Amino acid sequence: MSKDSLTITDNRTGRVYEAPIQNGTIKALDLRKIKIDDGDFGLMTYDPAYTNTASCISRITFIDGEKGILNYRGYPIGDLAERSNYLETAYLIVHGELPRKAEYESWVDSITHHTMVHENIKELMGAFRYDAHPMGMLASTVAALSTFYPEAKDVRDKAVRSGQIFRLIAKIPTIAAFAHRHSVGLPYVYPDNDLSYCGNFLQMMFRVSNRYEVNPVLERALEVLFILHADHEQNCSTSAMRGVGSSESDPYSSMAAAIGALYGPLHGGANEQVLRMLGEIGSKDRVPAFINEVKTSGGEVRLMGFGHRVYKNFDPRAIIIKRMADQVFEVTGRNPYLDIALELERIALEDEYFVKRKLYPNVDFYSGLIYQAMGFPVDMFPVLFAIPRTSGWLAQWEEMLEDKEQKIARPRQIYLGAGRRDYVPLDKRS
Ligand code: ACO
Repeated sequence: MSKDSLTITDNRTGRVYEAPIQNGTIKALDLRKIKIDDGDFGLMTYDPAYTNTASCISRITFIDGEKGILNYRGYPIGDLAERSNYLETAYLIVHGELPRKAEYESWVDSITHHTMVHENIKELMGAFRYDAHPMGMLASTVAALSTFYPEAKDVRDKAVRSGQIFRLIAKIPTIAAFAHRHSVGLPYVYPDNDLSYCGNFLQMMFRVSNRYEVNPVLERALEVLFILHADHEQNCSTSAMRGVGSSESDPYSSMAAAIGALYGPLHGGANEQVLRMLGEIGSKDRVPAFINEVKTSGGEVRLMGFGHRVYKNFDPRAIIIKRMADQVFEVTGRNPYLDIALELERIALEDEYFVKRKLYPNVDFYSGLIYQAMGFPVDMFPVLFAIPRTSGWLAQWEEMLEDKEQKIARPRQIYLGAGRRDYVPLDKRS
């Protein structure tokens, strides 16, 4: 009997089985041979919300939630946040290695020269209601891109995939900025290829007439925020990207699904909810009452921006963001909600309810305060998450398509509904 295996005794039959252990896992399919008799389907695992199921082998992002470690392709997030920029990090995430100089220049050039969108996209976006949420506009417009690039359907062609990766990373800030301009009734600003990825995004968002100077502190802050949000292994939106992409739909359709997943308040919508929560609390002295409400609500009211499925001691991204907030506030002035946030954090970190459940500030607790100070409206927060996560989604999508073990994603279920019943005509139902 191998040492790297699990011996299972089925007490229903007394039979003993051996399942190999590889990389700390057993194969779920190995359980299928555990049967009561030949007619039995075989044993499955029940894992709602996939809290203990690895759905793929990945070489992109490593997280150790207990130790608060986050590495992209082996590089610690703190080093990348300090020394890299978003496009270099995106290259690393997509290609697996940091680019050499020529590779970097070609990558930046390709992305910079794909930032324009077809003029019809402008018309499409113009059809949204004046108050449409920019995340809804983003998801719909990204889905619509698939009709502009029908060749993208050929997902088994690596060169075709590569073309769509440039396009999506390049165009997502343009679409995001157009969505914002639409919602405030300002004319769309076209990309400026002389600016950096983040500098260009800032000018597309905020330029009024010809005057807009990109502030280097804010440009750098955005680079760092984008690096921190670029990938986070198999979270809800990435699983949506992989799941939808596993049916070999084009990357625009898959990414529209990922954006939809990110929109939810428990995922990328959380920083928007943090700001709304801080607004509702209103002042520092009302923090204890709010904490009490969270504790006594039986899970109904949550302290938004706290807690994480994986990080159970601290979120390394939250620490980098908190440090950076001071630099941004020096330029923009202090966000008036900061004092409420600091007080929430102080009380929660000492409170038994949060300590016992290992609830700590996550990446979203402070990012919203920074974005708001930089002038981004609250509605744009999830969009600001989607822009950098595009590189992560695409890298994961590419990895999934190249993985020979992957097939169309199709979980099982435990059926506990009604047994077979006879149809009763409408006039005979009591
Ligand atoms: N405030 C209050 N209580 C909380 C919070 C919170 N923010 N988060 C979890 N809890 C409680 C739960 O009620 C539960 O309590 P119980 O054991 O008494 O039932 C316990 O802590 C465990 O919570 P789960 O929901 O089981 O944890 P899970 O891992 O499923 O959820 C999640 C993680 C969704 C992030 C959760 O912590 C949450 O809702 N946080 C607020 C939303 C948020 O900030 N999301 C952003 C996450 S980061 C990101 O997506 C980039």
